[in-house]
Amino acid sequence: MPAPSKIAMGVAATVGTLVSAGPCDIYAAGGTPCVAAHSTTRALYDRYTGSLYQLKRGSDDQRRDIFPLTAGGVADAASQDKFCAGTTCLITVIYDQSGRSNDLTQAPPGGAAHGPEIDGYDYLASAVGAPVTLNGQKAYGVFSSPFTGYRNDRPNGTAINDESEGMYAVFDGTHFNTACCFDYGNAEIHNDDPGNAHMEAIYFGTGDGSGRGSGAGSGPWIMADLENGLFPSEDHIHNPNLPTMNSRFVTAVVKGEHNHWAIRGGNGQQGPLNTLFDGVRPDGPNGEYFKMKKEGAIILGIGGDNSNGAQGTFYEGVMTSGYPTDDTENKVQANIVAAKYAPANLNSGPGLQIGSSVSLRVTTPGYSDRYIVHDSDTVDTQVVNSNSDYGLKQRASFHVRQGLGNGGCYSFESVDSPGQFVRHSNYKLVLNQNDNSKIFHEDATFCSQAGLNGQGNSIRSWSYPTRYWRHFGGIGYIASNGGPHDFDNKGFFNDDVSFVVSTGFA
Ligand SMILES: *[C@@H]1O[C@H](CO)[C@@H](O)[C@H](O)[C@H]1NC(C)=O
Repeated sequence: MPAPSKIAMGVAATVGTLVSAGPCDIYAAGGTPCVAAHSTTRALYDRYTGSLYQLKRGSDDQRRDIFPLTAGGVADAASQDKFCAGTTCLITVIYDQSGRSNDLTQAPPGGAAHGPEIDGYDYLASAVGAPVTLNGQKAYGVFSSPFTGYRNDRPNGTAINDESEGMYAVFDGTHFNTACCFDYGNAEIHNDDPGNAHMEAIYFGTGDGSGRGSGAGSGPWIMADLENGLFPSEDHIHNPNLPTMNSRFVTAVVKGEHNHWAIRGGNGQQGPLNTLFDGVRPDGPNGEYFKMKKEGAIILGIGGDNSNGAQGTFYEGVMTSGYPTDDTENKVQANIVAAKYAPANLNSGPGLQIGSSVSLRVTTPGYSDRYIVHDSDTVDTQVVNSNSDYGLKQRASFHVRQGLGNGGCYSFESVDSPGQFVRHSNYKLVLNQNDNSKIFHEDATFCSQAGLNGQGNSIRSWSYPTRYWRHFGGIGYIASNGGPHDFDNKGFFNDDVSFVVSTGFA
């Protein structure tokens, strides 16, 4: 077929599919094409059929790519569920759909922090921490716990120096904290902080703990991480007009060109994208931000120097070449709304009855007469049976409550010490009084799934979903399947994290 007809066909097809076009088709039509496009939930181009992300499972370290179900469609979550059945899975790669190989992989150590994994790398995210549906079809986002991060330090085609760019990301507006920095976007290629203006990334959360960077209400806010500051406007400190963005799904936009940048945001499930800030660079024409020194690396879940204390959830996001128009972004927002993101059940497997008293019996061979108990504030295992004294029976019994940090999961309140809940603290399970802080609520929230060894339930930390209740040396931990701590040991992992849940002793 002669070339001209091919071109004609291409144009016709583009026009014909404009309504269902993916975000990157919309950016391309607007003259600001995606140069990086990341999503574990769906294809971001109408015709994309390639890999979305890569999994590594705990049982044998095998890897598996997950594809969209159809061209331009939702991720094949069933294929993940099958691959990960009876074991744990991590997200090892979030592929770039733009054709530029700007994949995101495990973030290396940086100037601000070394991660907890081998050679100072950050944690990888669990593959099951952020289940959602898109148009009713199941998919998984990237649930980034503290010390989790992804990065690409060999970017291809992202903006450098004062070049123009646009970015958007869809986040979970209920998962954030005050720690530096849950970012997505443009950062330094050497994982260091060489000075102001070396970054331009979307930040989501309640500031970096420095007291700088805030908006109206109590947050979270969409801000720009421009290096050495989270900027709610050209002012470093505070923008009273920057609204709290706490809808379940948040569309966040940051874009920048010479001495001009903007923050935009909206509800990822409905309504328009609003301009939250649109103005000049901070510090004026003599300031360091006047001519940006962007380096073009790509980060997710961390700051540019690998500041890795933040948490958040990422579903999809892109970086463009050129400064997108508001109109283009408004169409992208309409596309996100049309994708019909909705929360999915965080629990699976045998359900737990809210309000009931339960006991949790160990299933590891040779230890199956032991139960989870608390000794004062320590959570450990002990032999418990019908002949045990009443005090021990009480200490081996917990009331199932709706999750304090996420109502879709559970919390476990002591039967003999009401008001005290099982929570994790420095990776240990402990029993503490509920002080009603955000961190307590999150540390005391656990999601349940079918026991990894086929018996009972495995109880996953909501805030660190790679980590499960585990008995190890008689003590209770939240443990990952192969990780930096001795209690993360892979030996007997599935048995050690599976508990038969029965009616409580008391
Ligand atoms: C950079 O992106 C272009 C597409 O624009 C692609 O052809 C090229 O292979 C990419 N380079 C690398 C190293 O992946």
